[in-house]
Amino acid sequence: MQLHVLKDAAKIGEAAAMLFAAQILKKPDCVLGFATGSTPLPTYKELIKLCEGGAVDFSKVRTFNLDEYVGLDRSHEQSYYRFMFDNLFSKLNINPENVSVPHPVSANLDDDCAKYDAAIDAAGGIDLQILGIGHNGHIAFNEPDSTFSAGTHIISLTPSTIEANKRFFDSADDVPKTAMSMGIGSIMKAREIVLIATGAEKAPAVKAMVKGAVDPACPASILQLHPSVTVLLDEGAAGLLR
Ligand code: GLP
Repeated sequence: MQLHVLKDAAKIGEAAAMLFAAQILKKPDCVLGFATGSTPLPTYKELIKLCEGGAVDFSKVRTFNLDEYVGLDRSHEQSYYRFMFDNLFSKLNINPENVSVPHPVSANLDDDCAKYDAAIDAAGGIDLQILGIGHNGHIAFNEPDSTFSAGTHIISLTPSTIEANKRFFDSADDVPKTAMSMGIGSIMKAREIVLIATGAEKAPAVKAMVKGAVDPACPASILQLHPSVTVLLDEGAAGLLR
């Protein structure tokens, strides 16, 4: 794990976007893993700038997103599908056919999950995956005590995640209670990972991820065992590391 403490969220966005740009320059038809949440937004802004300026070309890039709520239509403004198009994909020269966001809609959701992992494998696996981190150490929607080896699956959100995400909905009752999420096993297959975190409220989760035991109680702690992880933090998120 390589840790870097940067000045603020904007600098983290620039640094993460440079990792993506380098990956695309190295392999124009690479497979990128994207995340939702507010933390990656500055990264996405930078990627849009780089694309508009002609520095990176997304025309051959393929993408897979980490997760999606169950029960929200793709047109719902809080669906992760819509989030990704509003904040990134619609502003890049990416072929929408090359974009995959989990779509848990069939009668057998387990089938949707198995097909999603199969699609990632068929694309050759993810070259670079960006991750945020939840207050309880979750990555994607893998809540504490998730199985480390799991593939994409359906997850019940914990009360703390529902509480954290209710800011995007009218009330906690409107937050979907389940989600389809890449499992930790799927995420660990990515060849390279960049995890970003900002703000002092993420400091306990960051400390558990970096300094704690590798333990399902903190799902992100598994990243200690990944061969290529870059962690980009601001002073607040790094606050309990020194
Ligand atoms: C959600 C997403 C995660 C994200 C987390 C933190 O639960 N499923 O992928 O990392 O929120 O979000 P934020 O970056 O807004 O703090």
